[in-house]
Amino acid sequence: MEKIKIGLLGLGTVGMGVYKLIQRRADVMEKTVGAELEIRKILVHNINKKREGIDASFLTDDWHQIVEDEDIQIVIEVMGGMEPAKTIIMEALKAGKNVVSANKDLIAQEGRDLLDTAHENKRDFLFEAAVAGGIPIIRPLKQCLAGNDITDVIGIVNGTTNYILTKMSEDGMEFADALKKAQELGYAEADPTADVEGLDAARKVAIMASIAFHSRVVPSDVYTQGITKITARDIAYAKEFDSVIKLLGVAGNTEEGIEAGVCPMMIHKDHPLASVRESFNAVFVHGDAVDDAMFYGRGAGEMPTASAVVGDVIDVARDLKYGCTGRISCTCYKELPVKKWGDVKNKFFIRMQVKNQPGVLASAAQVFGRYKVSIARVVQEHTEPEMAELVIVTEKVKEKYMENALDELKSLPPICEISSVIREYSGT
Ligand code: NAP
Ligand code: HSE
Repeated sequence: MEKIKIGLLGLGTVGMGVYKLIQRRADVMEKTVGAELEIRKILVHNINKKREGIDASFLTDDWHQIVEDEDIQIVIEVMGGMEPAKTIIMEALKAGKNVVSANKDLIAQEGRDLLDTAHENKRDFLFEAAVAGGIPIIRPLKQCLAGNDITDVIGIVNGTTNYILTKMSEDGMEFADALKKAQELGYAEADPTADVEGLDAARKVAIMASIAFHSRVVPSDVYTQGITKITARDIAYAKEFDSVIKLLGVAGNTEEGIEAGVCPMMIHKDHPLASVRESFNAVFVHGDAVDDAMFYGRGAGEMPTASAVVGDVIDVARDLKYGCTGRISCTCYKELPVKKWGDVKNKFFIRMQVKNQPGVLASAAQVFGRYKVSIARVVQEHTEPEMAELVIVTEKVKEKYMENALDELKSLPPICEISSVIREYSGT
């Protein structure tokens, strides 16, 4: 049987999963692809590290051995990072190889260059695993939903933070304990800052928004706030308001431009995204023809991510069999502006510690009024003789007006502390 030879860049969590899955599915490749998939060389950093089940003669620490091997037709990049990953992928494409990558950091930032190079060389560059791990979302956005004008993409696209928020909310776990557990389970990045500060989710939002709205969005276009300031008290209020707190990636295509942000948000428990628990991810899409569609599953981990990578590899192998690689490259044919975050409108939940004296609420309301902030709900709980906790929920207001109002509130003497400011997801 014909063999399609593969070079694997990286043999960590995802690389091992890819290796195992290709072996596990070997017997069906003849029927599904019409060829055998053979991993010929594997690039690693530490060539001396013992790797169970791997013949050491396949390992190399020199990427040229893969890029310059004329028999290799597919390169799988699961090593991560910007460099040398970008150089290796570019060189592989120029050498006529097709590339499959899971590297969202690189694709979010350098996607155009990579896709253009693939196009120039008439090669496939596929990256289904880069967003939401095992969940098919790149292909649905690029292909299955191509007939739609997509206006909104909202996602829970970071497994680590969803796991942490679920454990804090359901088991009363502390943030640090839940993060440690997520690291043990292999969900978190090597440096979990990217997870808990929202950077990982922002990269995924940039990739999804670029594809959904046909216009390049890069991570610096995405307003980013993580979950490190969320407290048990905020979670208790969310429950009281029939909501949960989720780290949401929200991208919208509006008349004034693209809106893109990642931040913790209160979302009503009846919304389908509210029931996405543990390390699961989900992406909710609104298109003019399909209406609402939601994609749900495992967004991280060895085998779910390998599932997406191997799916791409099989697609490339089929394209190779039919001699039709390089069919779908960059789909960003527009140049839409990205809205300044200050002009984006949101609802807010504000929790503050105030002096328990007459006129405090009136003076806070006056500040809000001055900055066009309309109040939807006021709750005062945990009142002590001297102090009270005041919670104000607003209607939708421009981010910049809220920022100005909060700045002025902080300087009001009866307001001792603004403990939390959390946005409320209010639908598309
Ligand atoms: P990982 O466990 O850290 O593995 C990285 C692998 O690449 C290791 O085998 C490492 O070699 C090798 N490597 C790294 N830099 C190298 C270099 N400069 N030269 C040679 N080899 C190098 O990472 P991972 O979790 O598998 O993630 C891989 C990629 O998939 C990343 O882009 C990540 O964002 C993406 N991804 C991961 C997940 C997930 O759940 N983990 C999900 C979706 C996407 P050594 O073994 O010798 O150290
Ligand atoms: N660290 C990521 C997450 C997995 O927690 O979702 C890789 O995308």
